[in-house]
Amino acid sequence: MRRHHIAAIPGDGIGQEVIPAGLEVLMALAERQGFALDVETFPWGSDYYRQTGRMMPEDGLDTLKPFHAIFFGAVGDAHLPDDLTLWGLRLKICQGFDQYANIRPTRVLPGLTSPLREVSPGDIDWVIVRENSEGEYAGHGGRAHRGHPEEIATETAIFTRAGVTRIMRTAFAIAAKRTRKLLTVVTKSNAQKHGMVFWDEIAAEVAAEFPTVTWEKELVDAMAARMVRRPQSIDTVVATNLHADILSDLAGAVAGSLGVAPTANLDPSRRFPSMFEPIHGSAFDIAGKGVANPVATFWTAAMMLEHLGEAVAAAALITAVEQVCAAGILTADVGGSANTAAVTAAVVAAIKGANAA
Ligand code: IPM
Ligand code: MG
Repeated sequence: MRRHHIAAIPGDGIGQEVIPAGLEVLMALAERQGFALDVETFPWGSDYYRQTGRMMPEDGLDTLKPFHAIFFGAVGDAHLPDDLTLWGLRLKICQGFDQYANIRPTRVLPGLTSPLREVSPGDIDWVIVRENSEGEYAGHGGRAHRGHPEEIATETAIFTRAGVTRIMRTAFAIAAKRTRKLLTVVTKSNAQKHGMVFWDEIAAEVAAEFPTVTWEKELVDAMAARMVRRPQSIDTVVATNLHADILSDLAGAVAGSLGVAPTANLDPSRRFPSMFEPIHGSAFDIAGKGVANPVATFWTAAMMLEHLGEAVAAAALITAVEQVCAAGILTADVGGSANTAAVTAAVVAAIKGANAA
């Protein structure tokens, strides 16, 4: 039997609710589809920090390395600084395992309503490819003359030929596998004349390796407007760490809720385990209430299954989620009144039903 070793890190806030929900659904799928999941859950995060002074153990990356994938909830705490919690856990894993490609699909699921007047389910089908290792979030910069009027802070955006080339190749390869074979390369090369012009140049170089893909350039501000005005004109998008971070929240909102938006932090070379997480974060305002939307985590779980080579199970999970959403079994963020447990139970039932038929 195929066995996949999964490291689960629920982390903070609603991560503690959605990851167990995701595991429940994954276990139901494994049983129906004939594979096994060995899951080990790690208690790392902000509570762990309060007990130990660290977000994860010093040798945490060594512990994670042998796993086939990491299933991650969220990090962020109302009482701890974000840079401490994020850099101490999530970004440490992303950077330590060189998960340079962050993949963010967006669709309006059946039963959900886009806030855009003329958009119905099926109209939006995007994949945003976010550069995940450098750019504006490289952590490069510093502070000097603290507390003085001359105090200075720099945050340097880093673009390397190796880093930009590999994310372009990833994005073109994804676009080449999709029906429309259309890639929009997002930059701000009119104003940011070094890094972003470099990005455009490398896009043109890599494009030559992918003759079947039609590609175009778009400035990030114009792209934000286009996502609202002409969402049907977009398919695959590649953008820097910062630009894609912002555009992907817009994408989540346009799709009906950030509560359904999934992501994969991939090391496409597979030297290290990749990490799968819902985009929404720890949402401490609703944490502990059992009302978090588990759909982002289910979709994330489907991306993880795909990465593990379980494409049939991944498709079955998406179908089950679509059936449940279409039936109106929805959490409050998408206009329903079901809680996390009810949505999870409905998805498990849909998985079991599909296979019994
Ligand atoms: C996201 C989140 C994170 C990011 C934050 C929490 C650092 O906003 O996944 O988009 O920007 O990577
Ligand atoms: Mg974000």
